[in-house]
Amino acid sequence: MKLTDNFGRLIKDLRLSVTPRCNLRCLYCHPLDWETTEPPGTVTVEDVRHFLKAGSMLGLEAVRFTGGEPLVRKELPQMIEAARDTEGIRDIAITTNALLFRRRAKELVAAGLQRVNISLDSATPEVFKAMTRGGDVGKVLDAIELSFELKLEPVKLNAVMIRGMNEGEVVPLAKLSLDRPLHVRFLEYMHLDNSNPEEYQRRFIAGAETKAKLEREFGPLEKVDSDPSAPARVYKIKGSVGTIGFINPVTEAFCSKCSRLRLTSDKAMRPCLLTDLEMDIAWAFEAQNPVEAITDAILLATDRKPAFGNTLPTLRERVMIGIGG
Ligand code: 5AD
Ligand code: SF4
Repeated sequence: MKLTDNFGRLIKDLRLSVTPRCNLRCLYCHPLDWETTEPPGTVTVEDVRHFLKAGSMLGLEAVRFTGGEPLVRKELPQMIEAARDTEGIRDIAITTNALLFRRRAKELVAAGLQRVNISLDSATPEVFKAMTRGGDVGKVLDAIELSFELKLEPVKLNAVMIRGMNEGEVVPLAKLSLDRPLHVRFLEYMHLDNSNPEEYQRRFIAGAETKAKLEREFGPLEKVDSDPSAPARVYKIKGSVGTIGFINPVTEAFCSKCSRLRLTSDKAMRPCLLTDLEMDIAWAFEAQNPVEAITDAILLATDRKPAFGNTLPTLRERVMIGIGG
């Protein structure tokens, strides 16, 4: 079966946040705590199994585990296994800062992990350290190599561009795509919390500005054919092995092609990242027949999925770490 929403969009991707915790504190993401255990009410392996069963029966095909930082969640391999064992789920990925990847990669691959998106806002040790409040970029670069060794391809990197933090990193990051089959994607910074809108405007960098900077350095980027329903516009530097992508949720909203539903780690559904609309569905996991109740909840969330998110600075309650990229 196929799930479509009220605007004719095919809903096929799930983003599942498995923890609100993170082992980094990126300046723009404001992690909430350093707890070592999950807060009560955090989604369990059993919950994930039920959710994916309901989702796959509705036609959802892809699942991406996010956080916080998914690798700090002890049970992540069991959750991946649950996805692998769910008929109909064809694509199993994680979005990670990769610091713990070397330590956990084997068990994740054994469980059925297929792909990784690695967050890397800077390739320069000091800049990375400042932006992440103490992170070691060497570990991330090592994780990228390990991803290739383990054939977790295509390996995609995500860099959120923020003025005054990493605009100087555009060229070094792009260079990573020159001789490796890496997909380096530059993301526009979204105003996800309710802090200072003037500050946000000052920090925002449009994808077009990033692209222009790259073309000054490398000459015109060449367009690469890519999935038209995917948010990234893909190019390559002439002669490079990898690609450069631009994900511009602010200047080129891709709402009309949005195929996603999100479940937060505290069991709320977010039909759209860029609205505060959120439905607490914890009750469905407690129901006598959870798969049936979750099916109803997913249908309701789909029905409430708005035509457009609001990309203007506005009041928002949760930052990314609380929602799951
Ligand atoms: N705008 C854009 N991307 C963001 N991320 C976190 N916060 C924001 C934001 N405000 C990204 C992270 C990571 C992914 C989970 O989401 O950098 O790549
Ligand atoms: Fe952690 Fe990702 Fe937020 Fe950085 S952006 S603090 S790595 S969740």
